[in-house]
Amino acid sequence: MIGIIGAMESEVNGLKAALQNMKTKTTASVEFCAGTLEGKDAVIAEAGVGKVNAAVTAQIMILEYGADAVINIGVAGGLESSLRIGDIVVADKVVEHDMDTTPFGDEPGFITGLERVYMECDERITKILADSAKELGAHTIVGTIASGDQFICRDDQREKLIGVFNAAAAEMEGAAIGHVCVMNGVRFGVLRAMSDCANDDSIVNFPEFEKSAAALSIEIVKRAVEKM
Ligand code: ADE
Repeated sequence: MIGIIGAMESEVNGLKAALQNMKTKTTASVEFCAGTLEGKDAVIAEAGVGKVNAAVTAQIMILEYGADAVINIGVAGGLESSLRIGDIVVADKVVEHDMDTTPFGDEPGFITGLERVYMECDERITKILADSAKELGAHTIVGTIASGDQFICRDDQREKLIGVFNAAAAEMEGAAIGHVCVMNGVRFGVLRAMSDCANDDSIVNFPEFEKSAAALSIEIVKRAVEKM
């Protein structure tokens, strides 16, 4: 069973429309749509924005639907210098950039319990997602995606994510999903289309490009699911 999570309606609606034999159920205020996607058993959910919503949704997919692979899709702010709006970042690893126990001598982003900063994505899922994006002609980078409960649009935020974590893109859910998947021994992948470049223009660019970028990530994940 493949679980696919997006934060916002625009990030999952096109996928739900492609789901066959769909059965829906609401748990913890999140609607889960289970069925067949591109011939594969899949469950799709719009989690809501932020790390807690994403974590709750991933855990329910694993426990209630038996998801053995979870893919997070949607939009992000580009940080890597070659990225433009509409480009793709596929994560090879994710980090919770707002996790901070540095006063106790830990590295920034260190997750006590998991005893790590970065959570590695499944190599095969990452390759399938990146190949699918390239096949659709998207400029695609594989790199670190940083997640936190913040919209990134200021220089000081950008500089931290690039300087401290070498992040290629910023969003608000991927690492929470990765965290839950690591805790459960479930493989995961993250695919994001750039709606903005996490800078001064993001407040204007995000609402303008969110829908088209989200639609691109949906097209790519459909192609990827076919290959899984
Ligand atoms: N999602 C899309 N753009 C983003 C940004 N700039 N910061 C955080 N999440 C985002």
